[in-house]
Order: sequence, then C-alpha cells, then structure tokens
Amino acid sequence: MNKKKNLKVSIVMGSQSDFKTMKLTKQILKKLKVPIEIRIISAHRTPMRMYKYASEVEKNNIGVIIAGAGGSAHLPGMIAALTQIPVLGVPIESKKLRGLDSLLSIVQMPKGIPVGTLAIGEDGAINAAILAASIISNNDPVVKSKLKSWRISQTKSIKKNPK
Ligand code: RP5
Repeated sequence: MNKKKNLKVSIVMGSQSDFKTMKLTKQILKKLKVPIEIRIISAHRTPMRMYKYASEVEKNNIGVIIAGAGGSAHLPGMIAALTQIPVLGVPIESKKLRGLDSLLSIVQMPKGIPVGTLAIGEDGAINAAILAASIISNNDPVVKSKLKSWRISQTKSIKKNPK
C-alpha cells in the first residue's frame, strides 16, 4: 500500500463535454479536502497524451484515478492497463444510448485489468469522488474526518416524515 501522505486524486475525462458531469466529482473532492488534478485525455483522439499521462502518473503522488468517458468508453480501461494506481470509471450519459454503452464498455473489463465502475452520469460522478476519498482516507486522517462529517450531515438531512 502507498504510505505517502496527501495523495491526490487525478480526474480525467474524454472530452470537454464530459465536464458537465465530472465537475461534480471535482466539487465533492474539494469539499472533502482531497487534493486533485484534472485533465482532458481522449484514448482515441489523443492516444499519445493518454499514454504519456498513464505511464508517468505513478511519479505524481496520485492515489486514485477517476476516469469519465462516454460512448465506446475505453479510457478507464486503457489507463488501468498502463498503471497500477486504482482506476474508477464513470460512465457518461451518452445521447444515443443514455449511457448504457458507456456503462457496458467500462464495467465489462476482462479479467486481469480491473476498473471499479460507478453508476451512469451524475450519481456515478458523485460516488466516484466519495469512493476515491474513502480510499485516500486510509492514509489521511484529515480526509477521514471530513468523510465522517459528510456522512453525519447526510444522515441528518434525511427527514423522518414526508411533507
Ligand atoms: C467520448 O466521446 C467522451 O468521453 C465523450 O463522452 C464522448 C463524446 O465526446 P464529444 O463528441 O462531446 O467531444 O470520447
């Protein structure tokens, strides 16, 4: 296990258009005080950028990579093939198939190279941030305590009686 402190989460996405969804990942990680970096990297439009990023990412104090992609969403799997840093995939809701294509592309990784797959769209983007923070919190007491407060306030926000 990586015992380094203050590990960052790297958020990558296949297109500027994915940022509508992935900005939620950024917002949650900021609230949880997890340091981040963000990049647009397309596995098919910028393959050399993807290769350079994934082959150098282990030098950059990154604890978790969150990769959002839509359609034939190979970005999370390709990055996972090039690094041992855990990769969480967020299936972006595509126009034609409402993200089912993205989900199946990301979740159906054949054995040997895992990608942790979240839900389609905004729920996945938010949960990816919380899950990444949870992984980082194993070695980071500040993030652990932020996550605890987050859970407590979420629980408090659920009313007992409907209005
Ligand atoms: C994928 O193609 C991206 O992840 C994005 O979700 C999808 C559409 O990209 P744009 O045509 O909006 O750039 O690579």
